[in-house]
Amino acid sequence: MSRLTNKRPIVLMSNPKSPVAEAYRSLRTNIDFSSIDEEIRVIMVTSAGPEEGKSTTLANLAVSYAQSDKKVVIIDGDMRRPTCHHTFDLSNRVGLSSIITGQNDCQDAIKETEVQNLYVIPSGPIPPNPSELLGSKRMTDVLTKLKTMFDIIIIDTPPVLAVTDAQIISSKCDGVVLVINSGKVKREMAMKAKANLDHVRARILGVVLNNVKRKKEEMYYYYYGSKE
Ligand SMILES: Nc1ncnc2c1ncn2[C@@H]1O[C@H](COP(=O)(O)OP(=O)(O)OP(=O)(O)O)[C@@H](O)[C@H]1O
Ligand SMILES: [Mg+2]
Repeated sequence: MSRLTNKRPIVLMSNPKSPVAEAYRSLRTNIDFSSIDEEIRVIMVTSAGPEEGKSTTLANLAVSYAQSDKKVVIIDGDMRRPTCHHTFDLSNRVGLSSIITGQNDCQDAIKETEVQNLYVIPSGPIPPNPSELLGSKRMTDVLTKLKTMFDIIIIDTPPVLAVTDAQIISSKCDGVVLVINSGKVKREMAMKAKANLDHVRARILGVVLNNVKRKKEEMYYYYYGSKE
């Protein structure tokens, strides 16, 4: 199986009591608490470079929201290397690109998943001009419509340092989660990604350190509270 079709592990489903699942739940809680006056409803997940764990973090965060009784839709805004349809075993024939270009209605692209309250809009056929589609007024209209149908919208994106798509989408979101693969990405690259997001006034809600090597004694802290 190729790297792109390979499914991303959703530990909130396979192992909900694990420390990793608990970490994803606290990510959700931290996002909820990050803004008192303004509700965070449209969240984008990105990273500096490729394969840092964006789509995996996004899927787990979305399941965590769905399990807390929110109606959630994932949008695969990564029209360069879309994977959300693989993660949830869905067809990618109709999706975001088909709605933005007016070939299909929003309703046609919203797919149910096996998780209650969780829906996915896959990327749809890969267009030649993803940045243009994502920056279009129709994209804004799609989000406005989805806000009337869902409590939470979570958008997958390509890496910030590769293309401008993530910066473009960030202007339409309430906030951004930046995933950093600590074993792979150099500090300067992570800083550059943050600077690029700051430049377009994106609101960074938090940073997820993926692939962190934890010391054994630290694990006890993680287990605390998840034993009931
Ligand atoms: N926390 C994790 N635990 C185990 N495996 C992980 C974790 N995060 C990511 N992976 C694995 O690493 C690979 C890349 O992850 P993922 O597809 O989520 O990254 P990505 O940043 O979305 O990549 P791309 O830039 O191609 O979109 C996948 O095979 C995934 O299963
Ligand atoms: Mg991805």
